[in-house]
Amino acid sequence: MSHLVPVAWRVEPLKKIHDRDAFSCGHAALDRYLRHQARQDAQNQVAAVFVAVTPPDSKVLGFYSLSASSINAVDLPADLAKKLPRYPHLPVTLLGRLAIDQPCKGQGLGQFLLLDALYRSLQAAAAIAAMAVVVDAKDAAAAAFYQRYGFMPLSASEGRMFLPMKTVTALF
Ligand SMILES: CC(C)(COP(=O)(O)OP(=O)(O)OC[C@H]1O[C@@H](n2cnc3c(N)ncnc32)[C@H](O)[C@@H]1OP(=O)(O)O)[C@@H](O)C(=O)NCCC(=O)NCCS
Repeated sequence: MSHLVPVAWRVEPLKKIHDRDAFSCGHAALDRYLRHQARQDAQNQVAAVFVAVTPPDSKVLGFYSLSASSINAVDLPADLAKKLPRYPHLPVTLLGRLAIDQPCKGQGLGQFLLLDALYRSLQAAAAIAAMAVVVDAKDAAAAAFYQRYGFMPLSASEGRMFLPMKTVTALF
């Protein structure tokens, strides 16, 4: 976590004015999502989508999405599950997508947006509880990125990982 954060990055809720046309993160499905689906998801309150920009430029440099979700308690590691009440399902915040425009990779923006998403999740959890933040790592590289920040595998499906909200609390 050695990056200095350029003051110029700003995180904003995705709006029509944000320029998404040239966004390319190396995963066509994520690029398509940002261009064609993200606004609709935000309008329908299926996902809250946030973008990084350097104002006054409206070009999207990175984005993430957050939604309320739940996990099956049996998918948690046994040592953690045994400390929790025996509910079959547990509330979590889903960090559904996180991606950085290729020219901006390696500058700390992924970490900046991940921490912004975790902080936002923590704040929201004070009003509507979520016991973890869950991600779906698209591939081994994404899993390695999330692992650096303490995300652990969930046994539900390949690539699904979680970070206990208690860990997020300690981060801030
Ligand atoms: C994964 C991704 C978000 C990382 O963004 P980034 O801006 O390049 O990452 P950062 O520059 O903030 O890196 C922060 C730290 O993580 C490390 N890191 C970055 N990508 C990594 C990876 N794939 N595996 C392990 N570590 C990684 C960096 O070396 C850096 O470490 P340092 O602070 O010790 O130097 C970006 O590569 C991306 O958009 N990938 C495509 C989409 C994707 O896979 N999204 C996640 C799943 S939906």
